[in-house]
Amino acid sequence: MTPSSLRSAILQLLKISLAGALLGGLLGHIGLGLAGALLLCLVWHLHQLQRLLHWLNSPYKSQVPEARGLWGEVFDSLHHMRRREHEVRKRMQSVINRIQSSTTALSDAVVMIDRDGHLEWWNQAANTLLGLRSPDDAGQHVTNLIRDPRFVDYFELTHHAREGLDIPSHIDPNVQLMFSLTRYGRGERLMVVRDVTRLHNLEQMRKDFVANVSHELRTPLTVIVGYLETLSDNADAINPRWKRALDQMQQQARRMQALLTDLLLLARLENDELGRDEEVIQLAPLLHSIHQDARDVSGERGHQIKLEIQGGALFKGVEAELRSAFSNLVFNAVKYTQDGGQISIRWWEDVHGGHLSVSDNGAGIAPEHLNRLTERFYRVDASRNSSTGGTGLGLAIVKHVMLRHQGYLSIASTPEKGSTFTCHLPEARLIDTV
Ligand SMILES: Nc1ncnc2c1ncn2[C@@H]1O[C@H](COP(=O)(O)OP(=O)(O)OP(=O)(O)O)[C@@H](O)[C@H]1O
Ligand SMILES: [Mg+2]
Repeated sequence: MTPSSLRSAILQLLKISLAGALLGGLLGHIGLGLAGALLLCLVWHLHQLQRLLHWLNSPYKSQVPEARGLWGEVFDSLHHMRRREHEVRKRMQSVINRIQSSTTALSDAVVMIDRDGHLEWWNQAANTLLGLRSPDDAGQHVTNLIRDPRFVDYFELTHHAREGLDIPSHIDPNVQLMFSLTRYGRGERLMVVRDVTRLHNLEQMRKDFVANVSHELRTPLTVIVGYLETLSDNADAINPRWKRALDQMQQQARRMQALLTDLLLLARLENDELGRDEEVIQLAPLLHSIHQDARDVSGERGHQIKLEIQGGALFKGVEAELRSAFSNLVFNAVKYTQDGGQISIRWWEDVHGGHLSVSDNGAGIAPEHLNRLTERFYRVDASRNSSTGGTGLGLAIVKHVMLRHQGYLSIASTPEKGSTFTCHLPEARLIDTV
């Protein structure tokens, strides 16, 4: 409202009042004339107000009411405000439309979940991959719609999870889905679901292939090893020139047998669900027997091997698997530590769970290798290891055994000083002895 229009409005009011008073004066009733003029003004303003209301409630495109003076300005300003607001709204709508049409084109499902776990919005692919129905499922809790316990666990623990969750679809078990959840805003979550069936099938083919080849090679190798043993039992009857070759054949055949056993064990660890072989294990006798085996393996190399056990050492798991994992670490320490070196095996329990560490003062491992040690066939120095006969499967087995027991392996090593390999096992699997 400009000061000039306000001034002219006041002036107009004064003029009308004066005209009313004059007319009243002529008729002998000044007061009545003034009141009549003011009433007329009031009725006119009420009429303009009513026009304004009517216009504001009508559709955006309807004609702006014609008026002059103060009311003309009010109508003009409101008209500009409405036009600006309409343009902003149009721009926002077009941004929303563009985002929606790009997420509709995505083949991955995208779902927005509020801080309490209720579905807020999802794209077209979520309907196909997760069987969501829009808009009926809006506001539903996500775990009411995807009930797989593995998903429920994953959803409730997202603040810990770094990796996605890979499970079969609840709609079609032949479809494998990868879920990943990210937090944003004030505790809301964005869930992206991808169909990884092809990748999963390829991975399964790789596992099956390795398992089948290992299995198929076992029988012929057993026959070869058998004949080699018979031959070396009758060494007198053989030409002495063949003796060395026979020894080497036997040694390599045994190496191949050990390799096949490890590959089969890995395949089983990857494929089988843990469960039926679980039992309560007394770790003390298990660790004492590994300790004794390590001393036997060390033999004349004279390592000093210490064993220390703190806590109840009762644990729920698969004994054969844990034996295999722990012995791998202890035998590695013996294998990769110089003669007479010191090795210490330690079990302890705390609020996080049970821990088994194997430390040595051997050659240690350079930092660039540490991340890759648990890969199959990975060896720090192939030439050195070929003399010690390792295949590089030991730590891969340890890693898988830990995963199956919901634990993990940590490795700390300093070149020239030594290494510590520690298996961390979850508290939930410890059995209370008190
Ligand atoms: N205590 C250790 N000190 C130094 N290096 C180690 C130690 N433990 C493992 N390594 C290194 O890590 C590599 C991988 O170990 P892993 O147990 O997987 O295989 P491996 O011992 O070579 O063969 P396998 O255990 O299958 O017979 C080893 O080749 C070795 O180079
Ligand atoms: Mg090993």
